[in-house]
Amino acid sequence: MNERYEALFASNRDIFDGARVLDLASHDGRYSFAALKTGAAHVTGVEVRQSLIEKAEETFAFYGQDPDTYRFVCGDVFDVLAREQLDVDVVLCLGYLYHTYRHTELMYRLHHLAPQHLVVDTMVVPGTKPTLKLHRERDAEDIRSAAQDAWSVGRVLVAWPTVPALQLLLRAYGFEIESRYDWTGRLAGRPPVPGLEGYARGRRVTLRCRSRQAAVAAGWDPVAPLPGAADPSPRPRNRPRARPVGGWRWRKRVNKVLARVTGYELRRAATRR
Ligand SMILES: C[S@@+](CC[C@H](N)C(=O)[O-])C[C@H]1O[C@@H](n2cnc3c(N)ncnc32)[C@H](O)[C@@H]1O
Repeated sequence: MNERYEALFASNRDIFDGARVLDLASHDGRYSFAALKTGAAHVTGVEVRQSLIEKAEETFAFYGQDPDTYRFVCGDVFDVLAREQLDVDVVLCLGYLYHTYRHTELMYRLHHLAPQHLVVDTMVVPGTKPTLKLHRERDAEDIRSAAQDAWSVGRVLVAWPTVPALQLLLRAYGFEIESRYDWTGRLAGRPPVPGLEGYARGRRVTLRCRSRQAAVAAGWDPVAPLPGAADPSPRPRNRPRARPVGGWRWRKRVNKVLARVTGYELRRAATRR
């Protein structure tokens, strides 16, 4: 947790100073507390599990935190974001993006919330294309029931993004990535640190983002592109699609199953849109 504190808070001190912070999926309030200790003026934590809200309130009281500086809301992030009028400067989206498949809905809400900064910390899947990988949510510590929503029927599906998918998603909703925390540099040459394996293997990233609108209004310098992160640029038009290794045999296999199950089959489009 101390390592994560460095990456999430200590290295972003400037955005927390006097800020009103929204901590999505705030768990037991650990990072809401960290935000206040890094200079935030107020934090609102949203967490779906009541027992964790109680834990957070107990901890804040234990440390004598002024009750006017925080508020915990028990509820689903989507319900809370839809019904509450929140006025925030910084949004923390830590350890949450891989507990949902409703990324566009979340980003839509965040876009309209219009914070100046957004800190994202999430598991990612390897890949150079902007893709989301569906997973069935694992059932550890009630996480599956927490992620359950009106669209789940027992099994809970979540989607993990690649880094290019994250970039595309953020950009589409008006957020620019200012920096990606250098976990590799921080952990290099050290024995493996339990709990940080994901960061060490590039399977978890910490991104500091800013609102494009706020940047233009404040005249901030443009952000530099992320080192090594390929821009997910579209394939040039009219370039013939390379014939895959093994030809189009996969189509026959897929069609066999499709025809059996649905009565339909895939046909090659005569013209490309
Ligand atoms: C992996 S923990 C992350 C906690 C903390 N933000 C962190 O980075 O350590 C995920 C948290 O999300 C909460 N959660 C999952 N789905 C949620 C939802 N739809 N609304 C609110 N909280 C949710 C879980 O209860 C859990 O506390």
